[in-house]
Amino acid sequence: MIDYNELIPNNVDLAGDKSLQRALEKWQPGFLGWWNQTGPVDSSSLEVYLRTAISVEKDGWANFGYVRMPEYRWGIFLVPRDDSRTIPFGDHRGEPAWQEVPGEYRSTLRRIIVTQGDTEPASVEQQRLLGMTAPSMYDLRNLFQVNVEEGRHLWAMVYLLHRYFGRDGREEAEALLERRSGDLNNPRILTAFNEQTRHWLAFFMFAFFTDRDGKYQLASLAESAFDPLSRTCRFMLTEEAHHLFVGESGIARVIERTCQLMHQHQSTDVRRFGAIDLETVQKFVNFHYSITLDLYGSELSSNAATYFTTGLKGRFQEGKLTDDHKLSESEYAVHELVDGAIVTKNVPALTALNARLRDDYIHEVQAGLDRWNRIPQKYDIPFRFTLPHIGFHRKIGSFAGHPITPDGHVITEAEWNANADRWLPTPADHAYIESLMTRVVEPGKFANWIAPPVRGVHGMPIEFEYVRFN
Ligand SMILES: [Fe+2]
Ligand SMILES: [Fe+2]
Repeated sequence: MIDYNELIPNNVDLAGDKSLQRALEKWQPGFLGWWNQTGPVDSSSLEVYLRTAISVEKDGWANFGYVRMPEYRWGIFLVPRDDSRTIPFGDHRGEPAWQEVPGEYRSTLRRIIVTQGDTEPASVEQQRLLGMTAPSMYDLRNLFQVNVEEGRHLWAMVYLLHRYFGRDGREEAEALLERRSGDLNNPRILTAFNEQTRHWLAFFMFAFFTDRDGKYQLASLAESAFDPLSRTCRFMLTEEAHHLFVGESGIARVIERTCQLMHQHQSTDVRRFGAIDLETVQKFVNFHYSITLDLYGSELSSNAATYFTTGLKGRFQEGKLTDDHKLSESEYAVHELVDGAIVTKNVPALTALNARLRDDYIHEVQAGLDRWNRIPQKYDIPFRFTLPHIGFHRKIGSFAGHPITPDGHVITEAEWNANADRWLPTPADHAYIESLMTRVVEPGKFANWIAPPVRGVHGMPIEFEYVRFN
C-alpha cells in the first residue's frame, strides 16, 4: 500500500476521503505512464534542483531541492477555504459560494475544468524534446520546473473531476491522459496546444504569450462561484508567475545577446555571428501572439455571457472592479470587420466578455514588450518590438480568415500571400533557429545565441549545478 498522504502532498484531507483516495490510486499509475511516455525525454535519471509545493503556507509552497522527476511529489493544493466567501458577480452575486456543484451547472462546469485541464499535459507533450537542446543547465532546470508544475496543474484539475463529478469526472480524468498534442486521431482540445514547440525561441514565446492566456483564464475561474475551483485556480496562479518569468526573461536574454553582437560588430546581420536577428524575433511575436488571441474564443459569445450570469466564470480581478458586477446595462467596445473596413462598435458588455478578457491580456503583454524594448534602446539600436493588430493572422473570432496586415490594413489574399513571409516565421527561419540549438549543459556556460540570466534560481549562483547527470 502506498501512503498517498505521504506521496501526494495535499491540503484536501486525502487520507480522510477513502473513495477519493481509491479513485486517485487508480489514476496515478496512468499519470506516471503518461509522464514516462510523453514527458521530458531521457530525463528519468537526472537529479533536478526543483521547487515543490508541500503546503500552501508562505514557506511551504516553494521547497527547493534535488528531485528525480518521476519521483516528483505532485501535490493537490487549494487556497484555504473562507467560509464567509460570497459569489462576487452575476445573478447569484452576494450568495454564499458553492461548496458542491449545483446540478444545473454540472456539465458546463465539467467542460470548463476539462478544457483547462487539457492544456496542462498538452504543454508538457509539446515541450518533450526541448531538453535535448537546452542552451544551459539553468534553462534546462527551468524547463523541467515548468513541466512538473504543468503536471501538477493536471493533478489539480483531476482532483476536482474525481472529487466533485463522480463517474463522468473519472472518465474525463482518464481521457486527459489519452489525448495527445498534435495527434490527428485524438488531439488536445485547443488548437494552440497542438502546435509543435520546435525550439527554445518557440518555447520562450509560448511561456510568455500562451502561458499568460492560462493566467487570465485561471484568474477568471478564480472568481468562480464554485469555491473549490476558485481555490484551486488561486493556488495555480502562484506557479504560473514563474512560467511567465521563464518566457519573458528568456526572450529578453535572446534580445540582449543579439543587441550585444549588433553593437559589437556594428551590423544588423547577426545571423553571421550565430544570433537571432530582431526581425525574426518579431515574426515569432506575431505568430505566438495571434494564435494565443484565438484561445479567447469569439469576441462576442453567448456562452461567455451565460458563464458570467450563472457565476461560473468572472472577469479578470472581478473584486477590484467597481461596477454592478452584473453588466445588465453596460456596454463594451469591440472591433469588427464591416464591408472590408475595421470599425469599433459598442455592444452589450455581457456578450463581449471574451473580448474584454483578451483586452486585459493584451494590456499586460504590451507592458512586457515595453520592457523588452528597453534593451535595444540601451544599445542605441532603433529597433522596437510591436504587437500586430488584433485582426492579424486570426482563425477564430470576427477577423477569422480575413487577410489583415500587422498594422491593421485589410488586404487581398494575393497581397497576403506575397507578404506573409515577412510577417510570420518561415520554414527557413525555423530551420535557422533549429541550427543554433545545440545542447550546452556545463554549469555556468550558455549557448552563443542567448545571454546568461541576471541571477540564478532561489539565490543560487548562475553556475550552480542545477541538474545532476549521473
Ligand atoms: Fe498550467
Ligand atoms: Fe504554465
